[in-house]
Amino acid sequence: MIRRAVPVGIGHYLPERVVENDWFTSFLDTSDEWIRSRSGIERRHFAAEGETTSAMAVRAAQRALESAGLTAADIDGVIVATSTPDFTFPSAATMVQAGLGMKHGFAFDLQAVCAGFIFALSTAEAYIVSGQAKRLLVIGAETFSRIMDWEDRTTCVLFGDGAGALVLEAQDQPGEATDRGILATDLHSDGRFRELLYVDGGVSATQSTGVLRMEGKEVFRHAVEKLAETAHTALDRAGVSAEDVAWIVPHQANLRIITRTAQKMGIGMDRVIVTVQDHGNTSAASIPLALSVGVANGQIRRGDLLVAEAIGGGLAWGSVVLRW
Ligand code: UT7
Repeated sequence: MIRRAVPVGIGHYLPERVVENDWFTSFLDTSDEWIRSRSGIERRHFAAEGETTSAMAVRAAQRALESAGLTAADIDGVIVATSTPDFTFPSAATMVQAGLGMKHGFAFDLQAVCAGFIFALSTAEAYIVSGQAKRLLVIGAETFSRIMDWEDRTTCVLFGDGAGALVLEAQDQPGEATDRGILATDLHSDGRFRELLYVDGGVSATQSTGVLRMEGKEVFRHAVEKLAETAHTALDRAGVSAEDVAWIVPHQANLRIITRTAQKMGIGMDRVIVTVQDHGNTSAASIPLALSVGVANGQIRRGDLLVAEAIGGGLAWGSVVLRW
């Protein structure tokens, strides 16, 4: 038997305010048709004034704990993947820990931008497999609406806010490809591509928050080139093949990237969880949001083999293969 990090609860939170594509046409030279056809996005949620990343993460975490039949007392640690924490410090994760009423365990943020949840899953798995934690809350939560340049039509129409949370638990499994839990991960980053996707402010460089800047076409090219490749690497490591995959759970940045990646993997769109039309790009929150929606609507079932993949600022990219 070997120890695996097995998903036992999932939940998400989306802010109440839904913004349709048409809203942008009141102040930008854009159209619903352009946004829909180039990105697949139809609407997104924006956090209310004063509604923070940690507040959304707490709501998602409470729902994940509820679905697992657990309470915060059962959790050893909280990892929050985010690039939009409430404050420079303390971490959003310690605020989530306090928000859940935890006086025990540990909490920290992890920043790998849109690939953050993949890196957080990999980190959580390492803590669980090494015996440092029995149960962890792994959360992706973002308020990207706070780092938009509202005069830049090439970026501000693409992003949204939200949070998703997963409870991972240490369970002994036979050590086979049919095990439940995380079976393999594959992580990459390449800092030479910094200029393709970045925020033009920050503590040490400018003492300001800054706004998001993106060379969309170039990021698109890297995404199409790298996502299928990392997914295949993780599938090989897990000892499974693309035919075994029940669902791709991709980072939700652009429907055209999602479709091309599935095509390259030889997997039909009927086996891809797609939420980009309703959420836009929620960065590190997009994969746990898609997982939670997929489970809630009955697409993802216990025993399904999933592959999640993402790419974002850094560049940083990677994938995780897990059996639900
Ligand atoms: O999550 C992190 C990773 N991020 C991504 O994966 C994003 C990757 N990139 C993309 O999703 C796509 O590149 C975009 C959706 C950002 C853009 O789609 P595109 O097909 O690459 O369009 P483009 O940048 O080549 O722009 C085509 C045209 C340009 O006009 P010209 O130069 O052809 O006259 C843009 O100025 O569309 C124009 N344009 C717009 N028009 C109406 C750009 N933004 C808009 C807009 N409304 N909002």
